[in-house]
Amino acid sequence: MVHPIWNDYPVIQSALSDVKKIIKEDLRISHPQVKEKINEYLDAPGKYVRAGLTLLFAQAVDGQIKEAKLYFAAGVEVLHLATLIHDDVIDEADSRRGIASIHKSFSNRIAIYAGDYLLAYSNRLMAKGLEAMGALREEKDRPFDERIIERILAGELAQLLNQYEYSMTMKSYLKQIKGKTAFLFALACQLGAANLPANQKNIRYAFNIGQAIGMAFQLSDDLLDYQVSKEAMGKPSLQDVQNGIYTAPLLLAMREDASLLSLLKSQEKESWTESKLQELQSKVEASKAYRRTQELILNYLKKSQKFLIKMELVKPMDLDDFLHDLMERKF
Ligand code: IPE
Ligand code: MG
Ligand code: MG
Repeated sequence: MVHPIWNDYPVIQSALSDVKKIIKEDLRISHPQVKEKINEYLDAPGKYVRAGLTLLFAQAVDGQIKEAKLYFAAGVEVLHLATLIHDDVIDEADSRRGIASIHKSFSNRIAIYAGDYLLAYSNRLMAKGLEAMGALREEKDRPFDERIIERILAGELAQLLNQYEYSMTMKSYLKQIKGKTAFLFALACQLGAANLPANQKNIRYAFNIGQAIGMAFQLSDDLLDYQVSKEAMGKPSLQDVQNGIYTAPLLLAMREDASLLSLLKSQEKESWTESKLQELQSKVEASKAYRRTQELILNYLKKSQKFLIKMELVKPMDLDDFLHDLMERKF
């Protein structure tokens, strides 16, 4: 079963089941329990947003979903899963997709190796996709930015280096989320739009669309962290600030309310109590930060539409309803 976000897209729904099948069939991890755990993640209620975007673009550009694009979608999803597993180690998050995270069920060491394995595995799946598309030796025919994975990991690292950075600006925050989230969305859309001979303009627009959607997605994830309970999300809430990660809602609220800075400073060496977290949340809520974050999200969505109308498509693609549902999600 895939997330209800895909209910209105039966073709994508069923292709996502094929993607899941591909991922499971080729997964070769010798440790049976770890393999079982990864399968559990695959079956837990993830949204498969990135893989689904690859397929949506594939359908619009090719008029159908070809085998190569299933492999690309699988590669994108596995890459995402690798980053989730590593992310939960770094953030010490005990749950993910409503189940215990790998490092919690096993250990940090096993989670790191499982994540590394998935990173390598995603590469293999992408290579299979390239092969299924036909020979792609020529530089000009490459359907995606090959440095993109490096850029994603650099974004994760940037976030770590900005930890407990009280003077973090919105500008560096936006740069950071571009790296850690938006580039993966960009890659997902770009792979979906890949064709031969490569229509470089088209795949560049797809990249830009994905990047804008990814920015909006991360901003909405950061809002969820402040607004939605753990039970609804299947992962801890108010987690970012406890990890010294300052995201849009907080950064924007800090501009209005100087007492937030003192609150953060007083907590750096302490662990957050429930009442301190409540205090912080009320201050953020009392400011205009939530509304401002929403405005930013809308701007990115508009930007994605601007690029979308420029694309050459075989089948028209209307992302409005999908993006609306995606932004309104509760997990
Ligand atoms: C979580 O991604 C990590 C972020 C970049 C916010 P998702 O919210 O897409 O996680 P799943 O795949 O649905 O579990
Ligand atoms: Mg994180
Ligand atoms: Mg988050």
